[in-house]
Amino acid sequence: MSFKVGIVFNFLQLPDVLQYPFVINKRNDGVIVKKGLFVYTNSIEGYLIGIIEKIILLNEYFSDALTIKAYNNDSNPNILKGLFPSDDFEYAIAIVRNLGIIQFQKDDKKIIDKISRMTFPASPGKEVYLVDDDLLKDFLGLSPENGLNLGKIKVTDLNAYINMDRLLNKHFAILSISGGGKSYLTSIILEELLSREISLGTPAIILIDVHGEYTYLKNVSPIKDKVKIIDTQYFQISIPQLNPYSFKKYQEQISNVQVRELSNYIKNLKDNDNSKKGYSLNDLISFIEKDTNGNKSTKQALIGWLADLEHLRLFGPQENPKLKNIVDGGQLTIFNLQNEISIRKKQIIVDYICNRLFYLRRKNEIPPFLLIIEEAHQFCPEAAHSKALSKSIIETIAREGRKFMACLCLISQRPKKLSTTALSQANSKMILNIKNPYDLKHLMDSSENITKDYARMISSLAVGEMLLMGSAINYPIFIEIRQRIYKSELEDISLSQVCSKWDKISSN
Ligand SMILES: Nc1ncnc2c1ncn2[C@@H]1O[C@H](COP(=O)(O)OP(=O)(O)OP(=O)(O)O)[C@@H](O)[C@H]1O
Ligand SMILES: [Mg+2]
Repeated sequence: MSFKVGIVFNFLQLPDVLQYPFVINKRNDGVIVKKGLFVYTNSIEGYLIGIIEKIILLNEYFSDALTIKAYNNDSNPNILKGLFPSDDFEYAIAIVRNLGIIQFQKDDKKIIDKISRMTFPASPGKEVYLVDDDLLKDFLGLSPENGLNLGKIKVTDLNAYINMDRLLNKHFAILSISGGGKSYLTSIILEELLSREISLGTPAIILIDVHGEYTYLKNVSPIKDKVKIIDTQYFQISIPQLNPYSFKKYQEQISNVQVRELSNYIKNLKDNDNSKKGYSLNDLISFIEKDTNGNKSTKQALIGWLADLEHLRLFGPQENPKLKNIVDGGQLTIFNLQNEISIRKKQIIVDYICNRLFYLRRKNEIPPFLLIIEEAHQFCPEAAHSKALSKSIIETIAREGRKFMACLCLISQRPKKLSTTALSQANSKMILNIKNPYDLKHLMDSSENITKDYARMISSLAVGEMLLMGSAINYPIFIEIRQRIYKSELEDISLSQVCSKWDKISSN
C-alpha cells in the first residue's frame, strides 16, 4: 500500500526538472514525513522518484516581522497565539530532489522495466506518495538475497544490502577523518564477506593491516578458520624472483650501469646455481665478491647497495610464506605490519605483495581477489606530497585490475594525499565524515558525483554514518552503519582503563 503524503505545488520558481515542492498532508496515522525519505509522483514521463531534501514549516500569522513585534511585548507575551487559532495555520512543505524516472513493465507495477534521467518537472496538483521498500530496493539496486548488509538506509527501515559483484567488480575507497570509522566499516565488510555462503562465490581477501587492528578476527570462532595472519617480521621476499630492476626500485641510488652489471651477475649466478633451493642476497653478494673480471668500483658499489638491502632482513632464497598457496577464495589473509617501523620497509613489503598478487592473478594461479590497503596514502601518495616505491603497482592495479578481477579497496584519512590516479579509479566511494576543506575539494575534483551539496552533508556526518556512491549503487545513499557482530577486545577499553592498567604494570 502506498502512503499519500502531500500535493505538488508552486513555490519559489519550483517545480523545475531537478526539484519540486509539495505541501505535506496533515495526518494522524503516525507516518512522519522526514528529511531523507524517498517519495514519488506521477509525471508525464513515468514515476518520478525523489528524496526529501528539506522541510520548511510556515505560518502566515508569523510571517510579518512588524506584526510580531507589535503584538509581542513584555506585558503581553505572544498575544498572537491567544488571539487567533494560529496553530491550525501552521503547515509544512517539503522540497524534493528528483533522482530518476522508473517505468514498469506493462501492467506490472512491481517489475521495473527501465530507470532513466528525468527531463521534465513534476506537475503541480499531483499527489506525492512514499516509495515502499520493495520498490526502493530495486530502484537503488540493492540485493537483499545475497548482498552485503552494511546497515540501514538512513531514515528508512531498509537494510543496505549492497550487491557484492557491483561493489567488487571495480575498485572502491573508504575515506574519512581519523577516527571517522573507516576500520570499523572495513571490519563489517569483512564480516559480511567471510560469512557468505560458499556456494555464492567470494573472492580471496588480502588485507594490509598497518596497525594490527584486524588480528582479533583470528580469535572469532565462527570465522577463525578462514583467517590467516602473517606477521611481516617473518615475511621473506624471494631473491631469485626479483628482476634487476626491482633491485633498483628498492635501492634507488643504484645507477643504470650498475643495474646492467647486476643483471649479468644474476644471470651467471642462476646458470651456476643448481641447488634448487634458490640463492639468498648474501649468496649474490659473495658471487659478486668472487668475480675477478668486473669493474672494481661498480662491484664495490653494488655490494654496498645489496648489503644495505640485506640489513632490512626482508630477503631470502624463497618466498615465505608462498603467496600462491595461502591466497584462497573466501579466505582472509592479513599482513600485519604493526611491528614495522621503517616506512621504506613497509613500502617494499606492500610493493612486493601487490606485484606478486597481480602477477599470479593475471596468470590465473590465484582466484579473483579483493586487496584492502589501510593507510593507502602511505603506499600510493600523490606526487606533490611524497614518494613511495609501491605507488606504481597500486596505480597499475587501479587502472588494469578490473579486467583480471583484482579489486582494490583504498582506505585513507587524507584523500588529498592519495594518488589522484588511484582515487579516480575507485568507482565506488564510502565516505564517512570529512572536515578538511582541501580533502573535500580533492574529492569533488576526483569524482563528478560529489556536488557542493554532498560536500556539505559529508562534513556533517556523525560517526557511524556514511555516504555510499558510485557503481555499487544506482543513486548515492546515506547509510547508518550497523554494529559489528564480532567485537575486538580492544574496542571497549577506555583510555582511563589502559592508564590504570599501565600503572599496575609499571609499579610491579
Ligand atoms: N558504526 C559504528 N558504530 C559504533 N562505533 C563506531 C562505528 N564506527 C566507528 N565507531 C567507533 O569510532 C572509533 C573510531 O573508529 P575507527 O577506528 O574505525 O576509525 P578510523 O577511521 O579507522 O580512524 P583512523 O583513520 O585513525 O584509523 C572506534 O572506537 C569505533 O569503535
Ligand atoms: Mg583505521
